[in-house]
Amino acid sequence: MGNQQRSIVITGGAGFIGSHVVRLFVNKYPQYNIINLDKLTYAGNLENLKDIENQPNYTFVKADICDYETILDILRQHNVDGIIHLAAESHVDRSIRDPFTFARTNVMGTLSLLQAAKTYWESRPEGYEGKLFYHISTDEVYGALTFDGSLFTEQTKYQPHSPYSASKASSDHFVRAFHDTFGMPTIVTNCSNNYGPYQFPEKLIPLFINNIRHRRPLPVYGKGENVRDWLYVVDHARAIDLIFHKGRVAETYNIGGHNEWKNIDIVKLLIKTVDRLLGNPEGYSDCLISYVADRKGHDLRYAIDPTKLSRELGWKPSLQFEEGIEKTVKWYLDNQEWMDRVTSGEYEKYYEAFYANR
Ligand code: NAD
Ligand code: DAU
Repeated sequence: MGNQQRSIVITGGAGFIGSHVVRLFVNKYPQYNIINLDKLTYAGNLENLKDIENQPNYTFVKADICDYETILDILRQHNVDGIIHLAAESHVDRSIRDPFTFARTNVMGTLSLLQAAKTYWESRPEGYEGKLFYHISTDEVYGALTFDGSLFTEQTKYQPHSPYSASKASSDHFVRAFHDTFGMPTIVTNCSNNYGPYQFPEKLIPLFINNIRHRRPLPVYGKGENVRDWLYVVDHARAIDLIFHKGRVAETYNIGGHNEWKNIDIVKLLIKTVDRLLGNPEGYSDCLISYVADRKGHDLRYAIDPTKLSRELGWKPSLQFEEGIEKTVKWYLDNQEWMDRVTSGEYEKYYEAFYANR
């Protein structure tokens, strides 16, 4: 499959994970036509892709996945045979404040993308042959675990608790329904928490790195006892590449690195790392820890069993957590201008500035 020509739409490619997937595909597959389709919400930042924006196999299209007619035109115009769907509203706290936006984008947006793919692919003489709709989902659809050592497997029953995870669960069901009803070739993957460069600083790790640097309080929800299973974002992108090319149609794969951490332990590791890299004395920023009211419906523990993915496709994470955190903290400290443009809102002008010059 490596030398084959392909035309692939990656939705949400200007976001955190999407930008790493776009970068990997553009650099690794010069023979592919990679179309980054993104609405550029607050979470979309084309500056994340500055290093590849002039590559001949890369195209950016500003569009909303909810806009069925526009999506259908894009699929036709670019003769698209593969869709890697990452576009979503992704932040749990925002979903608690504004669930409608999550239902619109994550549920109706995914449905309109599926329907556009169905219409276009069924209109082709070869039909669904050589096509793939790959949907990126989350471990949060499985609900929450206790501290009994159990893990989420592909067989774990869906039990979402937040409006975010409920909307992702719904979108997963629609994707599987399009396979079962229409025969569309689909794959769904459910990944654990990602961390790394270019993450929007509303999420725990970039927010806290930035707050430590600026000596602002670190709002730890509840007692900081909740557990998340962390994966370096480039390892997620590598898994997506592998599954897109070698995964079995109609299957689900869980993606995770057996890397469970209590929030408070991550916060202490971040403080230690930032203080060391900035030359502060040990313990200098401990006083910034500030316990605040818990998130509503806060899931206690997530932990992924990635056995199926490693056994079938040989995937394993490339980085140990300590190494990944070191790289990540260094990246945010070295890229303070990126952080400043994101926190000031300046980044939203990048699209006009870049495309006005074309
Ligand atoms: P993100 O919030 O950083 O980026 C989302 C991107 O989607 C942005 O570029 C945004 O502009 C775009 N987008 C939003 N609404 C759109 C719409 N209506 N039309 C077109 N584009 C739109 O998200 P992320 O953290 O990179 O997550 C990407 C995907 O991976 C999501 O589907 C998320 O559920 C899933 N996921 C995330 C994690 C994680 O830890 N971040 C873990 C597992 C799965
Ligand atoms: O598990 C995968 C999911 O991971 C993805 O599907 C989501 O898109 C992604 O946002 C992430 O969800 P979380 O809610 O786990 O990530 P977040 O960074 O918001 O929070 C991580 C943990 O830290 C969580 O237990 C809540 C806590 N937290 C978060 C913030 C922002 C705090 O204690 N304080 C904070 O200020």
